[in-house]
Amino acid sequence: MILVTGGAGFIGSNFVIDWFAHSDEPVINLDKLTYAGNLHTLVSLSGDARHVFVQGDIDDRELVSRLLAEHQPRAVINFAAESHVDRSIHGPGEFIQTNIVGTFNLLESVRAYWNALPADDKEAFRFLHISTDEVYGTLSLEGAPFAETHAYKPNSPYSASKAASDHLVRAWHHTYGLPVLTTNCSNNYGPYHFPEKLIPLMILNALAGKALPIYGDGQQIRDWLYVKDHCSAIRRVLEVGMLGDTYNIGGWNEKTNLEVVQTICVLLDELEPRADGNSYVEQICFIQDRPGHDRRYAIDARKLERELGWKPAETFESGVRKTVEWYLANPDWVGNVASGTYRDWIQTQYGA
Ligand code: NAD
Ligand code: DAU
Repeated sequence: MILVTGGAGFIGSNFVIDWFAHSDEPVINLDKLTYAGNLHTLVSLSGDARHVFVQGDIDDRELVSRLLAEHQPRAVINFAAESHVDRSIHGPGEFIQTNIVGTFNLLESVRAYWNALPADDKEAFRFLHISTDEVYGTLSLEGAPFAETHAYKPNSPYSASKAASDHLVRAWHHTYGLPVLTTNCSNNYGPYHFPEKLIPLMILNALAGKALPIYGDGQQIRDWLYVKDHCSAIRRVLEVGMLGDTYNIGGWNEKTNLEVVQTICVLLDELEPRADGNSYVEQICFIQDRPGHDRRYAIDARKLERELGWKPAETFESGVRKTVEWYLANPDWVGNVASGTYRDWIQTQYGA
């Protein structure tokens, strides 16, 4: 079996659901259930003996050591993190605690477990760390997309904490021989995305008749990766990735934020037209920029294609249509996540 951390969050839950579509190998899913974790997402797995959910913290060495000893996983995939840049600006403490100290404690629990494994199991074991393109900082419009060799230059408390966790993972390989793999991916989107992030926030705000708040001039560029493509890349890296290596995962879909929001508006105009017949584009507004806002991210995913034969299946156009359709078809899930603490966050970030 494998141990997944953060498997009740956006990417982790998609990964667990996707895993069982391809394999019967059991998953222990360790998640603290912060505001971003949601068991409602995993409801299709209730009663499924292949899935063992444990509420807990990667920081808790006693718990993690017990789970490792009890279940003897062949791999650990670490999704658990504080993940929202704007929240890291309002309150960086949790980001330092989970992303840095939590990763350190997880690595130490895993190292002790791995050291005690029989030789064959020890050789087969893998620790796969899920990271982000934000560790590389920002690109100019003309700059070549981030390759694995790009220097780390994180700009936000979130990306600095992820960069630190990547360095710890790297060091645990070089110093202790822990068999690690690291992936750095671009912006994910798709089903079960928490609506503090750009795409789901815009879909839900549009449908609720609210403003669509674009930071600054909306010309910042992100490289969008459909979450199921990310899941297939992670499975590939886990099975055949080179020990100690990092792999950049991206969708080859660079878009400005304004383009993304306009695309969502046009799709909603088609799929769920406004009662007054006007376009959702009317709801777009420009608000104060994010402090330290990175201008452009773009991933060079050629290493993954060349060495492991992975390519994304979705274009932005096909993936965003699926995403908008998913949100329209799942009002229960939306109602469940858009509850009390979510409303508090929206008030903190956007005010009236
Ligand atoms: P998310 O915020 O949706 O989910 C994070 C999950 O981790 C939640 O279920 C939360 O409860 C859990 N968690 C938080 N702290 C924990 C702790 N101390 N112990 C155990 N569980 C804890 O995040 P996501 O978007 O699914 O991102 C998953 C990973 O992928 C993160 O490491 C993030 O940095 C990385 N990443 C995300 C994106 C993206 O676009 N979403 C892109 C690149 C990399
Ligand atoms: O690049 C990978 C990263 O992508 C991940 O590491 C992070 O975990 C993930 O949250 C995401 O970070 P971003 O900051 O790029 O995502 P977010 O959805 O918050 O914002 C996307 C862009 O849209 C960004 O340029 C800020 C802008 N934005 C965002 C929100 C929430 C707006 O203009 N308005 C908004 O209301």
